[in-house]
Amino acid sequence: MAAMTGSDGGADADDAAATDDTAAVRVDGVSKRYEGRQTTQPLRDVSLAVERGEFVCLVGPSGCGKTTLLRLLAGLESPTDGTISVGGSRVTGPGVDRGMVFQEYNLFPWKTVEENVRFGLDRPVCDCADCAARVADLVELVGLGGFEDAYPKELSGGMKQRVAVARALAVDPEVLLMDEPFGSIDAQTRDRLQAELLDIWRETGKTVVFVTHEIEEAVTLADRVVVLGAGSDGVVGDFDVDISRPRERTDPEFAAAVEGVRARIE
Ligand SMILES: Nc1ncnc2c1ncn2[C@@H]1O[C@H](COP(=O)(O)OP(=O)(O)OP(=O)(O)O)[C@@H](O)[C@H]1O
Ligand SMILES: [Mg+2]
Repeated sequence: MAAMTGSDGGADADDAAATDDTAAVRVDGVSKRYEGRQTTQPLRDVSLAVERGEFVCLVGPSGCGKTTLLRLLAGLESPTDGTISVGGSRVTGPGVDRGMVFQEYNLFPWKTVEENVRFGLDRPVCDCADCAARVADLVELVGLGGFEDAYPKELSGGMKQRVAVARALAVDPEVLLMDEPFGSIDAQTRDRLQAELLDIWRETGKTVVFVTHEIEEAVTLADRVVVLGAGSDGVVGDFDVDISRPRERTDPEFAAAVEGVRARIE
């Protein structure tokens, strides 16, 4: 999409020609080291490609570098070694080609639902009819019609996370990056949000990279589950989930897929 140019702040147009590529996301030999009182290296020589429109879940033990990898994809941090590209363009910082949803809703408490979603737009202060219509569509898309004027404190956790998803979608990003977005939400609401996210994914055709601790959640959602190993082991498993949606947890195929992933993590 048009957003993937150097002027959007996240991608280097010069590299677009160099990486002639159909993958939406490409991680090539990426390492990340933090130097400090203690040096840690959560990622060592990680490579991964995500196709356009693909829904990939990243799982792995706590501390294996899932959030670090997502922050690198978002351009919030830079790799120590290796390269990351989105839509064929090298990531050099945050950009409107990537929308991010975090576990902690990160909404502005002093802004309403409508204003929070609007803030995701390229020009948050824009009051034009097109932008207003886009914000209204997004609020509807995430099922919050009627709550436009509510403030975050008046919303449940699930509703807040719906606002965060709408805000991430506001600039029509190529890729949606989600870090345990439903981690602090009760099980029933989480099931509903998962189904809603799949509807949004189908409707918008976005590429999704979704981090979760929950193997069941990964197998419910993903086309592919990628397992990051502990101790900088990088990608230790890569599973296609060929089960038609909606997926039933009681289905033996589902249970077998969960067991396959679990065995790789443990
Ligand atoms: N800014 C930082 N400075 C120093 N070390 C960091 C920094 N960010 C992450 N780390 C270290 O990198 C490692 C991986 O952290 P990360 O948050 O990516 O793990 P994670 O897989 O997301 O874990 P969790 O499942 O618990 O969320 C940890 O050892 C952490 O302490
Ligand atoms: Mg994390």
